[in-house]
Amino acid sequence: MSQLRGDYKSVWNSLAGTKRDAYLHVSGHTDEEKFHDDGEDTAEILRETVGIRRDDVVLEIGCGVGRVGRVLAPFVKEWVGCDVSSNMLRLAGRRLLGIPNTRLQEISGYDLRPFADRTFDVVYTTVVFMHLEEWDRYTYVLEAFRVLKPGGRFYCDNVDLASPAGWRVFEESRRQFKPMERPAQISKCSTLPEIETYLKRAGFADVQVAGRLDFWVYGWGTKPVAG
Ligand SMILES: C[S@@+](CC[C@H](N)C(=O)[O-])C[C@H]1O[C@@H](n2cnc3c(N)ncnc32)[C@H](O)[C@@H]1O
Repeated sequence: MSQLRGDYKSVWNSLAGTKRDAYLHVSGHTDEEKFHDDGEDTAEILRETVGIRRDDVVLEIGCGVGRVGRVLAPFVKEWVGCDVSSNMLRLAGRRLLGIPNTRLQEISGYDLRPFADRTFDVVYTTVVFMHLEEWDRYTYVLEAFRVLKPGGRFYCDNVDLASPAGWRVFEESRRQFKPMERPAQISKCSTLPEIETYLKRAGFADVQVAGRLDFWVYGWGTKPVAG
């Protein structure tokens, strides 16, 4: 193992050295049309869970090249994407060129320090938790709570270990890599109780968790108005 999983900045800058590599590590393919369709799918999931409104100021944690932001921005007041990787953000900047209500921010990989308390209506993170240590997943849930306005909504997802396809991900990685040869960004699954615990412990109300397509676990909740 040449890089530490928790050294997110160095790991993800090296995975996004070229546009092709960045696309592959974001979604497993490089086709722009499919990339756009995938973004539409994620936007639809956000509509079904936290809801998307015209006057929402939205933050995506780990926005990559703006796969979702490009689709979502026309439907909200402002979309802000943050990511640990400056290489991802450079590519995101190109993809979002000409979409005026978007903004990008580099972050440390461990917190949302550039953002003030009570700034956003919606915070979401998708296809990111699988690459993080559990503690760092929870820290982002806590940070999302901090930067959300009272009444603001949070969404996160991961591969569901208990689903058939999630178990395949787990087993394939176990068999494919020797312990010292595991890639730093290797996907690690979650379970519904794990995600539910993070949201409840962080203080979210109306917490819901769901499995989907025999692969994903989704969790979402609301910051209490008195929080
Ligand atoms: C698989 S990509 C998903 C990108 C985007 N969410 C999407 O669905 O298109 C994972 C993203 O998480 C970012 N990332 C990895 N570790 C991070 C961390 N600790 N903090 C913030 N972003 C991180 C990577 O740079 C990368 O852009």
